[in-house]
Amino acid sequence: MMFLGVSLVLWLGARSVLSGEMTPGALAQFVLFAILAAGNGAMLSEVWGDVLKASGATERLTQILNERPDIAAPANPTPLPTPGRGAIRFDRVSFAYADAGERAALRDFSLDVRPGETVALVGPSGAGKSTVFRLLLRFYDPQAGGVFLDDVEARAADPRAWRERFAYVSQDAHLFSGSAADNIRLGRPDADDAAVERAARRAEAWGFLAVRGGIDAPVGDRGRALSGGERQRLALARALARDAPVLLLDEATSALDAQNERLVQAALAEARKGRTTLVIAHRLATVLEADRIVVMDQGRVVEQGVHADLVARGGLYAQFASMQFVDAA
Ligand SMILES: Nc1ncnc2c1ncn2[C@@H]1O[C@H](COP(=O)(O)OP(=O)(O)OP(=O)(O)O)[C@@H](O)[C@H]1O
Ligand SMILES: [Mg+2]
Repeated sequence: MMFLGVSLVLWLGARSVLSGEMTPGALAQFVLFAILAAGNGAMLSEVWGDVLKASGATERLTQILNERPDIAAPANPTPLPTPGRGAIRFDRVSFAYADAGERAALRDFSLDVRPGETVALVGPSGAGKSTVFRLLLRFYDPQAGGVFLDDVEARAADPRAWRERFAYVSQDAHLFSGSAADNIRLGRPDADDAAVERAARRAEAWGFLAVRGGIDAPVGDRGRALSGGERQRLALARALARDAPVLLLDEATSALDAQNERLVQAALAEARKGRTTLVIAHRLATVLEADRIVVMDQGRVVEQGVHADLVARGGLYAQFASMQFVDAA
């Protein structure tokens, strides 16, 4: 339309100039004005498009802001002891996901973890290992039984204070677009640059961050500018920066190569000191470092103990170990 308008002005103007009604200078002026007017008109339509886009996005944002979580703080929340000890107890917990019908993810699940203890959860895929973490973090409340931290029941505590006691590395490391430092600070918003760098170094993330320009390196939309193992180490750095009494690691080193995994394991051994740690792992090296191994199947604890005893017993763990831990031989 813009070019059509300008062409029209030129066409009519050229005829007027030929017939002597108009000077060539006046025509040049008209054409210039026509171009200016058309350019601005086009700009306006662009701005209008932006306005529409922004209003759509605002609607989605307000929807998210107005969302109320199902899990809210009770009127008089029980305060958690300070400093936290990190004693965890699952008392006959049964839980089924809302869209799973009758199929329970945890059935009559009981577990006692002492402060400072490291417990490894092992078991086949779908056994409910990650679900244990999700209940601990209060993403859901169980249908029966109770989850306790330092002898306070989850439902009695303020979810915000409760979650502050946990550092969590999920099975699929979630990163957000922004810099590496932004992502690490999600664990501890008040961490200064030195603390952020320290956490990155401990999680062996410094190597790949340094070549990208340090902690301010952008990670891309959902961390897509990084590899799976790099994302995982950044998620680990976030958890280490958090410095919480309970550390939850859901296959936190599964995407790493052998050498990086060994380095990260050393850092984790350091981080576990004085902290209650629950690890879900599929590698023997990680499982062996635990004080206790809890074997799960179909939402239940089927065996627990140390590696040698469990292998000697010849149960599910022994079976699992001989197939799963290729590094066992
Ligand atoms: N959001 C969900 N909605 C419905 N069912 C779910 C959901 N998440 C998990 N489940 C189901 O609950 C059961 C336990 O899942 P969970 O994620 O705890 O397994 P897992 O032991 O961590 O397995 P993996 O080793 O594969 O990670 C599975 O049968 C799974 O299909
Ligand atoms: Mg899982």
